[in-house]
Amino acid sequence: MNQDLRHHLRHRTQSDHENVDRVMSRFDLTTLKGFSGFLAIHHSSFRAIQYFATADSPTRLALDEMVQRLSADLATLGAAEADFVVPSAKNIDGLAIDYLIEGSRLGSQILKRRWMAAEDPRIRNATAYFSLPPDPQRWRAVCDQLSAVPAQSDRAEAIVEDTRFLFGLFYNTARTQLGQTIRLLEPAV
Ligand code: HEM
Repeated sequence: MNQDLRHHLRHRTQSDHENVDRVMSRFDLTTLKGFSGFLAIHHSSFRAIQYFATADSPTRLALDEMVQRLSADLATLGAAEADFVVPSAKNIDGLAIDYLIEGSRLGSQILKRRWMAAEDPRIRNATAYFSLPPDPQRWRAVCDQLSAVPAQSDRAEAIVEDTRFLFGLFYNTARTQLGQTIRLLEPAV
């Protein structure tokens, strides 16, 4: 096993990230339906993850802000918020949540460039989520905290499993939303 949990975690969750990346890339961020679906996935996934974050922690505050911004963008687009299932009680290591949300902000810079190609002014007016930049200090702090966890410990294994669980939550939400968006795009028969 790689001795550094920060790199080990990336390696162990690479296929989970790729699965999420693949399904999310089906949403065309330059169309109203595609961008609404993309926002709805993030909104309902982060709302579910809020239940796992300790009240008043920096993680919870970061999630609250992301959820508010996603809500604002959905309202700007006149799009519905997706249903979400309140997750059953489960302990998720806070470091797994931090890794997922700060990492998703890194990746969001690529997605922002896709969104910026939109010509529809309604889409370009929904700026709240993508105007939240990645926070390099927080990302560095998360990486440092991961590196400080002994890689061959029970906690390290729990962090890997919890991160995979959170990616799975995103993936399942995205698959459900993709089905709904495709139905919306297809003419009624
Ligand atoms: C189409 C969708 C996505 C694309 C194209 C994408 C792309 C990327 C890219 C290019 C990076 C590396 C950024 C860098 O090192 O500067 C990254 C990192 C990351 N992304 Fe994504 N991402 C997507 C969706 C997501 C989602 C929805 C999540 C979370 C639920 C996520 C979680 C992460 C994590 C945790 C990292 C850090 C990986 C590491 O260095 O250990 N990504 N992503």
